[in-house]
Amino acid sequence: MKRAIVGGLAGAAILMTALTAGAETDLDAYTRASRTMIKALAEDLQAELKDAIEASGPVAAIELCNVKAPTIAGRNTEDQVWSIGRTSLKYRNPNNAPNPWETSILQSFEARKAAGEDPAAIDHAAIVMRDGKRVIHYMKAIPTAEICLNCHGGADVKPEVTAKLAEFYPDDHARGFHVGDIRGAFTIVQPVE
Ligand code: HEC
Repeated sequence: MKRAIVGGLAGAAILMTALTAGAETDLDAYTRASRTMIKALAEDLQAELKDAIEASGPVAAIELCNVKAPTIAGRNTEDQVWSIGRTSLKYRNPNNAPNPWETSILQSFEARKAAGEDPAAIDHAAIVMRDGKRVIHYMKAIPTAEICLNCHGGADVKPEVTAKLAEFYPDDHARGFHVGDIRGAFTIVQPVE
């Protein structure tokens, strides 16, 4: 997971630059920077999963799909705090359950995919109110790849993996996915001054 965090931090630096250049409300700049950051995080995560599964099998790799949503403090002001996480309509960890706004965006992602958009390119950024504060909320669809089926597939998931998942996640909804499905979304929240 170290690599994922490093990738995330490098991306965050780009993101901060986009915002501290006086572009707090420039959604285009924010979206571009968010894409860079999420791309690095997603690639690192997938590479790490692949290495671990090849080296020790999917049971040992289970804990690796837990992105420790890094909270990255801003460089200039102490209250400029990022939160990065993942969510899904069919989530595994209840801590990743979407809020109502995220649910509606995830549903719109499904509609966009059904209308022919490539899930790898589906994202959305908006300024919304959270707890009385204006925040920029970015979401990026996460497509399901072949490797993900080791733990998010259907009946083909190995029994020992199913057993381990049942132990940690008794109310797991994140099964039965196919390659190309939207597995969920990365989500980034940044307060707007
Ligand atoms: C080795 C097993 C394993 C593999 C392979 C795997 N995952 Fe996961 N995934 C998990 C576990 C376990 C969790 C719950 C992590 C947590 O507790 O936050 C999870 C959670 C997630 C979540 C967060 C939302 C939720 O359901 O809680 C997303 C999104 C996700 N995985 C996407 C993927 C994608 C995309 C791939 C393929 C690139 C993948 N996973 C491969 C085991 C796996």
